[in-house]
Amino acid sequence: MKNLKDIKLCVFDAYGTLFDVNSVTKHYCNELGDISEPFSKLWRSKQLEYSWLRSLMNRYDDFWHITEESLDYALDYFNIKNEFLKINLLKSYEHINCYGEVPTTLFKLKEMVISTAILSNASPNMLHMAIKNSKIDFLIDSCISVDSLNIYKPHPTAYNLILEKYDLNKNEILFISSNSWDVAGAKSFGFNVAWINRFNNKKEVLPFESDIELKSLLDLVLLL
Ligand code: LAC
Repeated sequence: MKNLKDIKLCVFDAYGTLFDVNSVTKHYCNELGDISEPFSKLWRSKQLEYSWLRSLMNRYDDFWHITEESLDYALDYFNIKNEFLKINLLKSYEHINCYGEVPTTLFKLKEMVISTAILSNASPNMLHMAIKNSKIDFLIDSCISVDSLNIYKPHPTAYNLILEKYDLNKNEILFISSNSWDVAGAKSFGFNVAWINRFNNKKEVLPFESDIELKSLLDLVLLL
């Protein structure tokens, strides 16, 4: 197990790590019925796919637009023609729930005098709304959006934004994500990486593995 006692900054991915992406559609189970879960999974997978494709094509658009375009795909795939539902699903993204252990984890990190930051593909306004509406804004020292780069994670310039903002060595920084593609990207960049594998997902077959794999963010606090 890697020694994490030198960590001065914890950098979190947003969606999937701090925020429960599937909580967005849970508010509309009546309208979506038993397709709620596959609908949410398709929306999320298309959102990520579009971010990677636009990065590779050098055709950046911000994550809010990608979230809307991927939602349009999922609505069309399930043959749902309901503009009111679409508007409400997008609005719910601004009120996305954080996972239960997030506030306590962030609070304990602040008690341990460890700085906290978010590095996310989300647009600055998406991040502002998400941390404000989930009442964790006072526990996050800084939000870093890739929007200023016009390219998405896992491109290495995205992770380099952290080194541009903080005068720290890589061994003083821990990057934390639940998204295995993001884990691989951060590890490839050279960060210490914790994978929060809440749902016992299989490891990617990529040459960049996390330093530690945990079930919950709270387990992290015990290691720092
Ligand atoms: C984020 C999503 C894409 O960057 O995981 O927050």
